[in-house]
Amino acid sequence: MPPLAPGVIICRAMPPAIVVHGGAGIYGDEALPEAVAGVAAAAAAGFARLRAGGSAVEGVLAAVRALEDDLAFNAGTGAVLTSEGTVEHDASLMDGRDLSAGAVGALVGFKNPVAAADEVRRASPHVFMVGEGAARFARERGLEQVDPAALVTPKQRAKWLAERERRLAGLAAGAPLKHGTVGAVALDAQGHVAAATSTGGTFFKLPGRVGDSPVIGAGSYADDAAGAASATGQGEAILRVTLTRAAVDRMRAGASAQRAAEDSIEELSLRTGGEGGIILVSPRGELGIAFNTRRMSRAFCGLDHPTPVALIER
Ligand code: GLY
Repeated sequence: MPPLAPGVIICRAMPPAIVVHGGAGIYGDEALPEAVAGVAAAAAAGFARLRAGGSAVEGVLAAVRALEDDLAFNAGTGAVLTSEGTVEHDASLMDGRDLSAGAVGALVGFKNPVAAADEVRRASPHVFMVGEGAARFARERGLEQVDPAALVTPKQRAKWLAERERRLAGLAAGAPLKHGTVGAVALDAQGHVAAATSTGGTFFKLPGRVGDSPVIGAGSYADDAAGAASATGQGEAILRVTLTRAAVDRMRAGASAQRAAEDSIEELSLRTGGEGGIILVSPRGELGIAFNTRRMSRAFCGLDHPTPVALIER
């Protein structure tokens, strides 16, 4: 298992427990302190909810909302921009108690897309809603809509302008300019699991492109009978191996959470050549983390580790 902190290898936590990620992929060295601080704060927010008696769903919601509100991550405010300079969010949430799930794709104008995904789960007859219909539903459910421009940070705008210049000059696309997606998996004190994932998607994506994050079984999956998983990385690859469902099924078949995480990322590499990462929790409190990128920010809290343990590769 990749150490959660230098010299600390943790494979199991006492419930309630939560694991979060702030994305696998490209992080500039200057981004490391804010990424570690951000995942630590999100794990603490989720764990506080769990420790106060909250459900696994409430735990992952609190953690992912914190990451969406943190400008350092590609989700919520500060997400990457489409080729047209707009923000389109994708998010999902799944409850392992009853396999209820909700997801939104290409959502415009909401600060916390994961809350919209949870509304779809709780209050609609559907699992996956996209675009204007999803926005209308979220609005009608009382979620606060914001000016889409308020979700665009000066940093992301500057990156978009530079990329647009490159392309107008006929140069090849620049390197992807931001690390990925955020997510969380939790195990509550009653032994229930949940997963949630949220993203702005890929930098300079075509408007209307939807990745793995809102697709149940690709970006998020949770089943009390086996475990919960949240993925990060190249959506077009993750979708083709249905990464989170594959990982949870490995646990269902008897693999440890860590073995399931590593084997699932190996399958992603071997079958698609894609890059990504995954976090897992089992109903017994086993934790699993694997990625094939250079860096992935992640953090964890459990009853036996109430202070967040957070890490990213130096
Ligand atoms: N994994 C995020 C995306 O590809 O949209």
